Amino acid sequence: MQALSASQDAGISLREVSKTFGDGSQNVTALHQATLEVKRGRFASLVGPSGCGKSTLLYILGGFESPSSGVVEALGRSVTGPGIDRGVVFQEYALFPWLTVSQNIAYGLQSKGASKEEVRDTVHRYLQLMHLEGFGARYPRELSGGMRQRVALARTFAYEPDILLLDEPFGALDSQTRELMQDELLRMWQSSGMTVLMVTHDLHEAAYLSDDIYVMSKRPGRIVAHYTSTIDHALEREQIMLSPQFTELHNQVWLSVREQVKASLSEVQA
Ligand SMILES: Nc1ncnc2c1ncn2[C@@H]1O[C@H](COP(=O)(O)OP(=O)(O)OP(=O)(O)O)[C@@H](O)[C@H]1O
Ligand SMILES: [Mg+2]
Repeated sequence: MQALSASQDAGISLREVSKTFGDGSQNVTALHQATLEVKRGRFASLVGPSGCGKSTLLYILGGFESPSSGVVEALGRSVTGPGIDRGVVFQEYALFPWLTVSQNIAYGLQSKGASKEEVRDTVHRYLQLMHLEGFGARYPRELSGGMRQRVALARTFAYEPDILLLDEPFGALDSQTRELMQDELLRMWQSSGMTVLMVTHDLHEAAYLSDDIYVMSKRPGRIVAHYTSTIDHALEREQIMLSPQFTELHNQVWLSVREQVKASLSEVQA
């Protein structure tokens, strides 16, 4: 019984994960013994200085990069490659350029074996939700950067993977759309029980959305701090953002990240 409840709890786990890129002559160590655990159903954010290894960590979890050493698990299973259980929204919001907007959104659902009706209805709903009505038959190259990012979000949100891995998913959006997308993500997360790990540079975004916030050190990245939120995410945005819990969480994370950024800048100047 105990083993069963432990595995039901398993969301995302990295233990002492290191990653070195290169052929031996010009190596870059992106991660050094990074350890992080996100329990199933929780929303976690990963923050830290630019170039510290956040995307690398996410791609290792997605199965697109393999670690040089360490243990990587998703839902209690060892990660050996990409899988439909893990949906990834990349920093460059990569879309399939040969598919239309609607076909991109339908892709994951079709791979999951959804019925024609379900695919059609879900695509329609997401075109509306993401303010992309009238663009379903267009190709990614015909869209603006912000629109492409919304298609990438729709494509991944639409099939509700067990684990959602997001790399700065709202970076290309104006602040109004960004807030709408954050609230849509929050709503989806609450209704689906997904486990989320999101990389972001926006500490307000991290404090607004997350149960857990992990701070990474300068490169080679490892986890140097973990903050747990006491915010009730069922509350309205205004109530959350004006609460003392939000301010305190944001300030703690800000100070922690600032320390790491200062350390990485002093290294550059030295
Ligand atoms: N495929 C690769 N080959 C060689 N080096 C790489 C590769 N991918 C990442 N790196 C290096 O690993 C380090 C970490 O990069 P990564 O993209 O993970 O940082 P990041 O924390 O996501 O930065 P940012 O916040 O700017 O997106 C960098 O020094 C980068 O140059
Ligand atoms: Mg990155």
